[in-house]
Amino acid sequence: MTIAEDNKPFFKYTKDHRFAPMYPLLAKEIVDKYGITEGVCLDIGAGSGALSIELSKITSLSLIALDIEPEAIEMAEENCVIHNVPHKRIRFVFGAVEKMPLPDASVDLILSRGSIPFWTDHVSAFEDIFRVLAPQGKAMIGCGFSRYQSLKEVEKMRPVWTPEVLKKRTRWKKGSFLADTLREAGINEYTITDDSFGTWIELYKSPETR
Ligand SMILES: C[S@@+](CC[C@H](N)C(=O)[O-])C[C@H]1O[C@@H](n2cnc3c(N)ncnc32)[C@H](O)[C@@H]1O
Repeated sequence: MTIAEDNKPFFKYTKDHRFAPMYPLLAKEIVDKYGITEGVCLDIGAGSGALSIELSKITSLSLIALDIEPEAIEMAEENCVIHNVPHKRIRFVFGAVEKMPLPDASVDLILSRGSIPFWTDHVSAFEDIFRVLAPQGKAMIGCGFSRYQSLKEVEKMRPVWTPEVLKKRTRWKKGSFLADTLREAGINEYTITDDSFGTWIELYKSPETR
């Protein structure tokens, strides 16, 4: 497999893919962290569907995998077959994070890994994420790997970008961009973690929030 093929945003999720060992660990980490194993889970920019596929194996969550690329959804559906995920266990939704075709307050857990660098309107994206999040719901949005991996494994997986691509892909986490975006989106309760495992924004919607 060439580097270019290996860095494709969506791919056949087989054990040979460079990222393959990460998704089961990330899914387990998310379950341990939030303890949400039932209810509705939305994976935004799901790509190959690997995270949703792994969550389908270890939880009873009703999984929704949303992506803006029909080709990604096709690939994710193929990956479900490879991983013996029962038909319709994951609901695939075509749509953009900035205006999701989902009801208000309908999702208990929102996840998004590796999609945020591609969003075109981050304020609208976070407004819509907060709109669909149910009261007491949690969201974990960002880029990176699992804390259940060793940093040595993470370093082996880390993509090597050209300086131009790196600049483009990391713009969203520079300076006060995230803090400004979240403020504009009207979100006050959040944490940002930025370290060698990645950059993650975690949101919580209190029961009083409408
Ligand atoms: C690098 S891939 C990450 C895929 C997957 N989450 C993973 O961890 O393997 C980024 C995905 O985000 C999707 N995407 C980009 N912009 C989007 C948007 N505005 N709304 C929804 N999905 C988007 C792309 O189509 C792509 O599948």
